[in-house]
Amino acid sequence: MTLSKLAESLAAPATLRLNATAARLKAEGAPVIHLGGGEPESPAPAAAVQAARAMLDRGDVKYTATAGIPALRQRVASYVEAEFGRPTTPAEVLVTAGAKPAIYAALVAVLDPGDEVVFPAPFWVSYPEMVRLAGGVPVAVAGPDGSHEPRIQDMEAAVTARTRMIILNSPNNPSGAVYSEAFVAGVMDLCERRGLFLLADEIYRRLTFDGRIAPSAVRFARDLGDEGRVILVDGVSKMFGMTGFRVGWAVASRRIIEVMGNVIGQTMSCASSLGQVAALAALEKDTGYVEDLRRDLQGRRDTAVRELTAIPGLRLVPPSGTFYCLPDFRAFGADSTALAAFLLEHTRVVTVPGVDFGREGHLRISYCGPAADVVEGIRRLRWALDPTSPREIQFGGAVHVRTWERPGA
Ligand SMILES: Cc1ncc(COP(=O)(O)O)c(C=O)c1O
Repeated sequence: MTLSKLAESLAAPATLRLNATAARLKAEGAPVIHLGGGEPESPAPAAAVQAARAMLDRGDVKYTATAGIPALRQRVASYVEAEFGRPTTPAEVLVTAGAKPAIYAALVAVLDPGDEVVFPAPFWVSYPEMVRLAGGVPVAVAGPDGSHEPRIQDMEAAVTARTRMIILNSPNNPSGAVYSEAFVAGVMDLCERRGLFLLADEIYRRLTFDGRIAPSAVRFARDLGDEGRVILVDGVSKMFGMTGFRVGWAVASRRIIEVMGNVIGQTMSCASSLGQVAALAALEKDTGYVEDLRRDLQGRRDTAVRELTAIPGLRLVPPSGTFYCLPDFRAFGADSTALAAFLLEHTRVVTVPGVDFGREGHLRISYCGPAADVVEGIRRLRWALDPTSPREIQFGGAVHVRTWERPGA
């Protein structure tokens, strides 16, 4: 059977693939620790659950307008205005079934076949594949060794006559990096000078640590009106632990929102009405949920950094936000896919190969799971990689003996 060459060339997202492997091993009774997750473990805000339950009780779960229920569009506009002090109207808001469709609709709205989209590496796994699906060509720009932020001159050098958009994701999945003000302002300026769109994926913006504020592209844009070129993407998935409700949004000029709305209308109709009322309740009644989550993640980050930096040979740029970090494991082998498979086999710990994020030799480690799992998972990694660690270790109710050769040894 022949299917579309483009569709067949798509990679299944590494993160989802690993979730499936971890679930299978767990079901078989293996003592799996999942350091590959992508969502906070805390339940959704009570107000969100109540709002969804009340709607279910009424049984009135129908289509909404393509761009979202008016109250949520209004609420997002007010939220953006309050966050950035820049006037925003509901007509500049498109509600989507998670942030992912907002990003995809933006790409479809902007790209013609062969147009290029530039983004920093490491990058979120879905950007290259979504760009290709939308007919474009992904162009990743790496930072200098040991940094997760490219130099602005390298971003500029990657821009050609075919470039239509730059994507910035800060705080960044997978590195946890928060880009500097100079970098975000520089990229915004580059976009304005060269007539490019800037897609600012700020879904982790409120999850930053040590008082650090993630500079938003919105703050540096000269024009946010009808000629504005910034497409801001955000949503409730991460900051409210509401990944399964599937609600995100894009904020951009009315013209961009109208065209993106047509893309969504013809393909996905609208976000779930249930998810939308829940998201509205979370945004309206957020009495400290996001701050509690942020503080909790900061504690887990501290634990993860402490445990990871105890592994001799591992190098880590400490994350300033999100719930991920991207340690450099090159001392233990250049092939991150092989290393992640080795660690899963011998320690039953799930990590995500850095090669899927454009950073070979690194592994993405998530610390959004239970703190005890973060400690135990990293303890097992150290056992597997540190030649001075004991030959025997106990986990999953059994003693494990090191009978294999450590990679890179
Ligand atoms: C950088 C980034 N953007 C967008 C998304 C998608 O979010 P959603 O679940 O709201 O579609 C994710 C999810 O992992 C992400 O990490």
